[in-house]
Amino acid sequence: MQAYQTLRSTALQCPRCHLAQTRTQVVFGEGSLEALVMLVGQGPGRVEDQTGRPFVGPAGRLLDQALETVGLARSDLYVTNVIKCWAFQTVGGRRQDRPPTAAERKACAVWLSQEIQIVNPQIIVCLGAPAAQAFLGSRFKMTTDRGRWNPTPEGRWVIATYHPAYILRLKSLDEAAYERTWQAFLDDFRQVAAKARELQK
Ligand code: URA
Repeated sequence: MQAYQTLRSTALQCPRCHLAQTRTQVVFGEGSLEALVMLVGQGPGRVEDQTGRPFVGPAGRLLDQALETVGLARSDLYVTNVIKCWAFQTVGGRRQDRPPTAAERKACAVWLSQEIQIVNPQIIVCLGAPAAQAFLGSRFKMTTDRGRWNPTPEGRWVIATYHPAYILRLKSLDEAAYERTWQAFLDDFRQVAAKARELQK
C-alpha cells in the first residue's frame, strides 16, 4: 500500500510532458492492489479529467455493464490507462478525446510500468489499440489479434479487446455492427473471467 501511495502522489505532480499544462488533474490507476486482473485503457477522457478517476464516464459505464454481465467485480480489479492525463484536440471550439502521441506514451510509460510492478497482475486486459500496442507491439491489429492470449516473459497473460468508447460510437452509427462488437467484447471478457478462475485455483 505504501509503495502505491508514494507512486500515486508522485504521479499526481507529474511534469513529464506538455499535458501537464492542460490537464485538470492526473488520473492515476485505482482498484485492488492484489488484483489478478489489470485493465488498461488509452487515457482519461473529459469526465475522468474532471473527477480524477479512470473509466467513470460513458465508456466506463459500458465497461461496468460488461464486467457485471460476465461476473467480474470491478472492486477485485485494478483499472488504469496508458497515459494519465487527458489528451484532446480542439475541434470547432470543443475539446475532443484523441489517441496519445508516441512522445506522450513514452513520457508516461514509467507510471504504468511501476503500477504493474506493484500490483503484479497475472492478466492484463488492453482496451483499444493504443493500449494493445503498448503491450503487444506496434503491429497489433484489432481486426486480427483481439481476443487472444499472449504470454509475457514475466509469466503474465495479455489479451486485447475493443475500447468501450469505440463500441459506444458504433451504437449511433450502425446498430448491427454495435451488437456484433458488444457481443465480441462480452466474449473477450468471458475469456478473462474464465482465465482468472483458472489461475485462482
Ligand atoms: N477512456 C480510457 O481509455 N480511459 C478512461 O479512463 C476513460 C475513457
